[in-house]
Amino acid sequence: MAIVGFIGTGNMGGALARAAAKSGLASELLLANRSPEKAELLAAELGGRPVSNQEAAERSDVLFLGVKPQMLDTLLGQIGDTLKDRNERQLIVSMMAGKDLGTLQSLLGEDKPILRIMPNIPVCVGAGVTLYCGTETVTEADKRFFRDLMAASGLVEELDEHLMEAASGVTGCGPAFAAMFVEALADGAVACGLPRKQAIAYAAQMLAGSARMLLASGEHPGVLKDRVCSPAGSTIQGVRKLEERAFRAAVTDAVIATWEKEF
Ligand SMILES: NC(=O)c1ccc[n+]([C@@H]2O[C@H](COP(=O)([O-])OP(=O)(O)OC[C@H]3O[C@@H](n4cnc5c(N)ncnc54)[C@H](OP(=O)(O)O)[C@@H]3O)[C@@H](O)[C@H]2O)c1
Repeated sequence: MAIVGFIGTGNMGGALARAAAKSGLASELLLANRSPEKAELLAAELGGRPVSNQEAAERSDVLFLGVKPQMLDTLLGQIGDTLKDRNERQLIVSMMAGKDLGTLQSLLGEDKPILRIMPNIPVCVGAGVTLYCGTETVTEADKRFFRDLMAASGLVEELDEHLMEAASGVTGCGPAFAAMFVEALADGAVACGLPRKQAIAYAAQMLAGSARMLLASGEHPGVLKDRVCSPAGSTIQGVRKLEERAFRAAVTDAVIATWEKEF
């Protein structure tokens, strides 16, 4: 058990705080946000306590930083000294995209244990992917505690820092691509006469089911594709059209474009 604090309880901070609350591992859940109403509402929902940034920084054994990367300087102006002055061990968990461990260490102190994490938005429904890497001062016990704390958020996995950007092109940006795919599938079905509501529901369920099959079987995606394409059937005609329009190349390029943007 540990005192767990969040500074910045927006979309992502809020979603991870919900996962932390479900774990039962937070002896206290401290929630701080610039506009306090957000933290107050979340605290009421989760049985946590709305606090100031200062109190979260002072008292948390595990402190999540959930502000936007461009807000970090302002935040450290408010709590930087408190973090540096704290005598008891404190694990900092940063979800700020693009803020690497070296930068965080130079701002927070070389000996501070810091986890850099890359969550994605499906953590809201317990089906996210959260990748993490840590400074040398992070222990195996810290990592285990973090994984247990986040267990209700979905897959939580350690990844070398140099692969974080490559992975986040799929995990972080991917939900937008998946939503576009669902929308496009639904448009096709609407064009063929299916009402919009069903078209979206069926497309999304199909995507979730196909993903579950791939995860359960561990098979290459091409095997599932081949299984659905019966000889002279309709699916292979759709596959042919997607290839003609360079569907796979477009998706591959989209992931590479997100990665290039990071550098
Ligand atoms: N959303 C994603 O899919 C995603 C994925 C991976 C990583 N992340 C990372 O998660 C972090 C949060 O993103 P988000 O999408 O959750 O943004 P968000 O909804 O805007 O949340 C940011 C929160 O930080 C609060 N805040 C700003 N400055 C503050 C300060 N000085 N002290 C306390 N609270 C402060 C904001 O309060 P107000 O209510 O006053 O605005 C807001 O509630 C970012 O660093 C982002 O890179 C997000």
